[in-house]
Amino acid sequence: MNVLVLFAHPRIDRSEVNVVLARTATAIDGVTLVDLYAEYPTFEIDVEREQHRLADYDVIVFQHPVYWYSCPALLKEWMDLVLEHGFAYGEGGTALEGKVMFNAVTAGARREVYSHDGGYSYELKDFFVPFEQSARLCRMRYLPPFALYAAGHARDEDRLDDHVNAYTALLSALVEDRFDIDQAESGGGVSGGLDELIVAEVE
Ligand SMILES: Cc1cc2nc3c(=O)[nH]c(=O)nc-3n(C[C@H](O)[C@H](O)[C@H](O)COP(=O)(O)O)c2cc1C
Repeated sequence: MNVLVLFAHPRIDRSEVNVVLARTATAIDGVTLVDLYAEYPTFEIDVEREQHRLADYDVIVFQHPVYWYSCPALLKEWMDLVLEHGFAYGEGGTALEGKVMFNAVTAGARREVYSHDGGYSYELKDFFVPFEQSARLCRMRYLPPFALYAAGHARDEDRLDDHVNAYTALLSALVEDRFDIDQAESGGGVSGGLDELIVAEVE
């Protein structure tokens, strides 16, 4: 499958983890990464070009840091403008039908904070329900977020390499059609049990 990573980070010069993850995605054959803030620094999105680009891909990944329990502004702008009625949803809006979509995110807070008993009262996937429902409206298949928690501590705590490897494994398996999308959809997503979701290559 062809994988498109729409990457959104407004301050890549200050990024510690997304910059590494973006480089990782770019290096994988079959994955195309688009740096939205680099392409549209003034927020003037070329809607036709973006809609046209989507046609070539089976998997759309929104890669971004979690900002205010959601995504950076340009990605929201992209959704507002590109996912038009008649293109992505509504009558005749079938351009995205059957494609897979998920958010690959980094969060400042720790996993336990994103829980019913933690400081944020909800799990990370609960904050991403607007993305899930948007994907559904566009007749896409939505997988819960692939997340790196406590991103600012990941390197010091020796978790960054594991996450980078998991991202590589996930994107490669998607490209090579070795990823069990049905199970990821029904079994709570791609963050836990990734190994079980990547089907070994048949010799
Ligand atoms: C404007 C802004 C809003 C943020 N909002 C959240 C948030 O809602 N939840 C959270 O866990 N982290 C939040 N953070 C922390 C970022 O998610 C974290 O710094 C980022 O994922 C680290 O990735 P980077 O090194 O690529 O920048 C926020 C950071 C900024 C600058």
